[in-house]
Parts: sequence; structure tokens; C-alpha cells
Amino acid sequence: MRNTQYVPDPGKARWGLTMEALVNGIHLHHVQAGNRIPLLLIHGYPLDHALWQPQVDGLADIARVIAPDLRGSGQSDAPEGAYTMETHADDLFTLLDVLQVERAVVCGLSMGGYIALAFWRKYADRVRGLILVDTRAGADAPAARQARLDMVEQVRQHGSAPAVDAMLSRVLAESTRQSRPDLVESVHAMMLRQRSTGIIGAQLGMAERPDSTATLPTITVPTLVVFGAGDVITPAETEGRSLADAIPGAKLVVIPNAGHLSNLEQPEAFNAAVREFVVQL
Ligand code: MLT
Repeated sequence: MRNTQYVPDPGKARWGLTMEALVNGIHLHHVQAGNRIPLLLIHGYPLDHALWQPQVDGLADIARVIAPDLRGSGQSDAPEGAYTMETHADDLFTLLDVLQVERAVVCGLSMGGYIALAFWRKYADRVRGLILVDTRAGADAPAARQARLDMVEQVRQHGSAPAVDAMLSRVLAESTRQSRPDLVESVHAMMLRQRSTGIIGAQLGMAERPDSTATLPTITVPTLVVFGAGDVITPAETEGRSLADAIPGAKLVVIPNAGHLSNLEQPEAFNAAVREFVVQL
């Protein structure tokens, strides 16, 4: 079932080595930088590996940073169908195999966090530490699930624009929107380049994701929970606090002047928290 053919891309990315791997029958595009502790960065929706540019730039001295485009996102293939969290976890497991990475610190933001928890359930022995960023453990309430299915219909009819419109105004803190028009523009561009098939696959997969609450007490590796103080999608005081309380020994860091994309909005504070966590492993 697993195809581990490795297809290096001769091109050099602006801030790392860009490569493709043939994983479970699809090409997964990914960027790598550094050669220390493997740090797998799993992006959210509707985004791609470029979400992690400040971490690829800023953490390569302490880590081997690996930032893939998930199936359906960025420059990876976008097959039809629902992308379940387990499918993504299988893709990432195979990617680590291809890259000959035994164990990695697995870091996921929002949808990436849902995937990180699925990865822990299936492949705990490949996890050296967990970093859960602006995410939640719970499954969708019925209304949230229905909203995803409605969005799928809209994207089928109108393309990706309705999905971009629904997310763009909510992912950044008010202070970021006011002070960083450049960042607003680059997040907008990142969302706009995502394909309809990929957005549909991600929404269908998230709609059917299981409740991971019971997974949290099973986590036995060091865990860092990082939230933007102004995150309106997954609020720090509820979602962040309950993740940190339920995971044995987990530490919660709340980053001021940041929303849902805390790593991008306040990269210095975010990288400092990750750096402190990773060097202690
Ligand atoms: C994300 O940022 O990945 C999304 O907010 C996840 C979701 O739609 O639940």
C-alpha cells in the first residue's frame, strides 16, 4: 500500500530545500531546513506549508524542520474525496519513513492539531513531543458539521472564494489586521491559491473527525500548548486551557497580540516558546 519512492525537487525554496515525495500514491510537497531534532509542522485549513515560514526560517538551528503541504493543499496532489485525519496521519507517517525520520516532534495548528492527535493515536512510537497550536480536541457539534457540508456545496458551485471569505476575517487578531496589512495580504494569497477539491476534501474530513478528548490523558510525551490570546476560532481560555489541563504535564503558553495564526502573527514569541520546549527534550 505504501509507496516510498523519493523524488527530490532540484529547485531551492526561498527558505529551505523544496522536495516532493510519492506517499500513498500521491505527491506530497514539503520544505525542509536544518538537521537537528526532527520537527514536523502540520498546517491548518485552508492553508499550506507557507504558514510555517517563520519557523522554517527561525528554528533550523535547533531542529530539522519539515513542513509539508497536506494532501489537497499547496503544491501537493488533491485527489477527490474526504481527507480524514487518519488519512493525513498515514500520509505523514509515510513521509517520515521516506525521510528516514524515526521520531519527530509533531506540531499542528488547528486542523493540523486534529491531525497531530490522530497521529498520536496511530503512531505514538514515532512522536518525541507534541505541540498543539490554536486547536481543539472535540468533534464538531451538529450545527458546525452542517455548516461544513453547506460550505462544501458552496465551493462546489462557486469555487474556493466562499471558503476564503469565511476564514480570512477570523484567523487574524484585530491588532494584526490593523497593523500588518502585508500579513493580511499574504494569508489571503495563501488561501486563494488552495484548490476547490482540496478545500472540499478538508471540510469533509474535518466534519467526520472523531472526538479526541479521550486521547488527551493517553499522551505520555512532553506536550506544549500554544494559543494566541485573541484567537476567536479556538479561544485560549477555553480550548487552550482544557487541552493543557487534560494532557499530563502539558504547558500552556498564551501569546499576546495574536489570533488563530499565532505562529505567523507573533513569530518571535512563538519561536521562543518552541525553542525552549525542543531544546529540553
Ligand atoms: C483551521 O484553522 O485549520 C480551521 O479553523 C479548522 C476548522 O475549520 O475546524
